[in-house]
Amino acid sequence: MKKQINQLECLARKLEPSTEQRKNLFEKAQKYGQNFLDNIGDLPAYEVDENMGKGVYDLPFEDSPKELDTILTLLKSEVDRSGLNPASGKHAGYIPGGGVYPSAVADYLAAVTNRYAGVFFSSPGAVRIENMCIRWMCDLIGYPDGASGNLTSGGSLANLIGLVVARDEADIKASNFSRAVIYTTRQVHHCVIKAINFAGLREAKVRTIPMDNRYRMNAKELNKQIESDKNEGLIPLTIFASAGTTDLGAVDPLDKIGDIADKHDLWFHVDAAYGGFFLLTDHGQKVMDGITKSDSVTIDPHKGLFLPYGSGALLVKDGQQLHDSQHMTANYLQDTLKATEETSPADLSPELSKHFRGLRMWLPLQLFGVQPFRAALNEKLMLSRYFYREIQKIDSIEVGPEPELSVLFFRYLPDNGDANTFNKKLTNEIHDDGRVFLSSTHIDGTVYLRLAVLNFRTHLDEIELMINVLKEKIELIQ
Ligand SMILES: Cc1ncc(COP(=O)(O)O)c(C=O)c1O
Repeated sequence: MKKQINQLECLARKLEPSTEQRKNLFEKAQKYGQNFLDNIGDLPAYEVDENMGKGVYDLPFEDSPKELDTILTLLKSEVDRSGLNPASGKHAGYIPGGGVYPSAVADYLAAVTNRYAGVFFSSPGAVRIENMCIRWMCDLIGYPDGASGNLTSGGSLANLIGLVVARDEADIKASNFSRAVIYTTRQVHHCVIKAINFAGLREAKVRTIPMDNRYRMNAKELNKQIESDKNEGLIPLTIFASAGTTDLGAVDPLDKIGDIADKHDLWFHVDAAYGGFFLLTDHGQKVMDGITKSDSVTIDPHKGLFLPYGSGALLVKDGQQLHDSQHMTANYLQDTLKATEETSPADLSPELSKHFRGLRMWLPLQLFGVQPFRAALNEKLMLSRYFYREIQKIDSIEVGPEPELSVLFFRYLPDNGDANTFNKKLTNEIHDDGRVFLSSTHIDGTVYLRLAVLNFRTHLDEIELMINVLKEKIELIQ
């Protein structure tokens, strides 16, 4: 038996590269990363490639190992080219990504040491880092000391947990789900509707409250609707407001909504996944006035803090409510109960084992300080306004409202033919060209192009290029 074990050990030890092998692996990967970033300015924002990454299947998993050089060549040709390049500053579609470099270093360190950041007992320092990030964001919202939260994979999960806490706090029974009412607008992110379904509330009533001419929830209508629902014996459960809608960047009137939530004693959640970090700016503070009145907030560091994908956060004003909703223990976890000085992330979300997400937020904040983040956000606010002003100089461009944050929409009105067809074509031309990326949407049947400025690599040069590409393509298809 020992002989057999030794033979297996011999094979299994290949999982632990030697110092030299590690150095070789790291240096090659690092060179790949450096090369990618050194050339990021020249890479297209969007690349149409007929192959669409199919070459990935040319390297199937086999018993025998492959060379890193072969693998990196495949990554470069099959993964890091085709499609959208969220690392590019010329990407201003959807809600742009980013990926500040220290987060990549933090992910590397987190993976090498593989600290278990779910439970305080297992890795007190790692949990303190996670909680420090949460505390910093709670301070940004203006939440009191007892607030708490969780670092999630993104905004969708944060919204889901927020809704589940609201549901649990209302202590509503399944037999009453069909009487429960959730208030939002048609502009809410679709992950909220998914969350309603995941939370078992598919039967609940979702009221899409009318909006003003800037696509913000009409607070008076909200109040009227809640009163009418109460009169009908329904159970108002939660208001899901947005601080920066994805489509149009609209911020609902949080202050007024907060008062209404308070008056009717219902949970007030703000989806600030996109807009939240603009609270670092004076303008953001003004636009999101009243966010402090919320019971919970979704805020995404992988959006407004420019982190790579995989970083969202849910913040809850009364941390005990989050704990009550998410906490559970088990026999095999009894040892962990010895250390309770800090709350454990595993008690505040459905996840037990998880990536040490705090490090990728903590390291850049420590290395850069907060100031460059604030400056970058102020810059993005101004860039979107600059774009908004400049495109109005193009004949026949129709713009939506001035951006509240950094998202705006517009369309071209052709002399002849259908405007929707023209603007779809315009979008496709911009995509096919690939130098810059803008996305499109439709509002009440009208097609618009959108600009969302949030990548930390988007500066004035990139915005000028976007304007020039737009002019060029309009001329081309006119
Ligand atoms: C306002 C808003 N909420 C929620 C989400 C979903 O976040 P995620 O993609 O991180 O799950 C997004 C994504 O763009 C968003 O813009």
